[in-house]
Amino acid sequence: MKRFVLFTAMILFMIAVRAQRPADANFVEANVKPYLLPDVLRTSKHAKIRNKADWENNREQLLDLFEENIYGQMPKHFVDIKFSLVEKDELAMQGKATMKKVSVEVFNRGQSVKINLILFVPNHLRKAAPAFLLINNRGQENTDPTRRVKSGFWPAELAIDSGYAIAAFHVSDAAPDDKESFMNGVLRLYPEQLAAANGMRAIGAWAWAASRIMDYFEQDPDVNADQVILVGHSRGGKAALWAAAQDQRFASCISNCSGNTGAALSRRNFGESVKVINTNFPHWFTPNYKQFNDREAELPVDQHMLLALIAPRPLYVTNASEDLWADPTGTYLALKHAESAYALYGLSSRLPEQAPAINQPILNTHLAYHNRAGIHDLTIYEWRNFIRFANFHFKN
Ligand code: GCU
Repeated sequence: MKRFVLFTAMILFMIAVRAQRPADANFVEANVKPYLLPDVLRTSKHAKIRNKADWENNREQLLDLFEENIYGQMPKHFVDIKFSLVEKDELAMQGKATMKKVSVEVFNRGQSVKINLILFVPNHLRKAAPAFLLINNRGQENTDPTRRVKSGFWPAELAIDSGYAIAAFHVSDAAPDDKESFMNGVLRLYPEQLAAANGMRAIGAWAWAASRIMDYFEQDPDVNADQVILVGHSRGGKAALWAAAQDQRFASCISNCSGNTGAALSRRNFGESVKVINTNFPHWFTPNYKQFNDREAELPVDQHMLLALIAPRPLYVTNASEDLWADPTGTYLALKHAESAYALYGLSSRLPEQAPAINQPILNTHLAYHNRAGIHDLTIYEWRNFIRFANFHFKN
């Protein structure tokens, strides 16, 4: 009986995996067809971007292209925002940290939405702490405020011991990750978005929520709001990039295994494609994005330009060696192609022509990268390196 259950579970799992990975998905490098990337240093009208001023003048236009075609509008207006301390424990982690649960409630159109923040700040620092903020797209237990459950996905003790505050909110507060119910969150404040072909969807809502947490950090004296590092894994890593590209208050962004419509180039069409992501997750991106199913070459942007929008702030993207679905090579190339935007700020890149070997992180630079041996995940290996990267930028 036990064996039968196990066998059936295995078959169901294999069917589920196959449903996501269509037979025509390409996993062979030699089958990547030649493609031409839009130039980071050209405006959409093909004018040359020669310096930092040109780049900054063109920033809004570039953001608009991502809004219009991929992630949807990012509403800036709301009537009110209220921060309430729901719970506080000054002796968390055996006295090493202060834990705060904060409710961030935003009001608009006679509706309100609550984003629940979990925050630990180190007690040993005598000043406002630099902070990691994770967009949590996995189970809530990963960010257990009681610390009975400990998870490599969000190793709060490690951050605290290293002198960082660590925070998280769950995506479901902003937009349930489900095509039937994603509108039951931030989108209740902006119902007009649902009717718009360039309207906000779930990934946009998660990014929007990250900015509201930033609003909170700006008035919490325990957190150094000038040193907030936004972190996301996979779908959360897509949202993290979009949030940081939009909201320059984020001092840095870490996008872990974010793959298609995250840090990987779409035009390579390797692993997950635009069509597959739009089909499996129709609630993530704007309706306009569906026009680019099987037509990546017609996109006015590619994902290296999203990475470039983080410049000059430190950016770290990662892969896992077995996670071909997220296209490690295409991710590394996107990072390489973002170099020219950083160069406008006088920041030279330390990225070699070819991606570094597995488990050989490149950390002490504005464009950081690693490819961990193993599967799609966010682990303690990642966080140890995130902390080294953060130490380089924020503690030197
Ligand atoms: C699926 C999806 C990816 C996404 C991933 C995740 O595999 O196809 O685009 O990044 O889920 O969020 O774990």
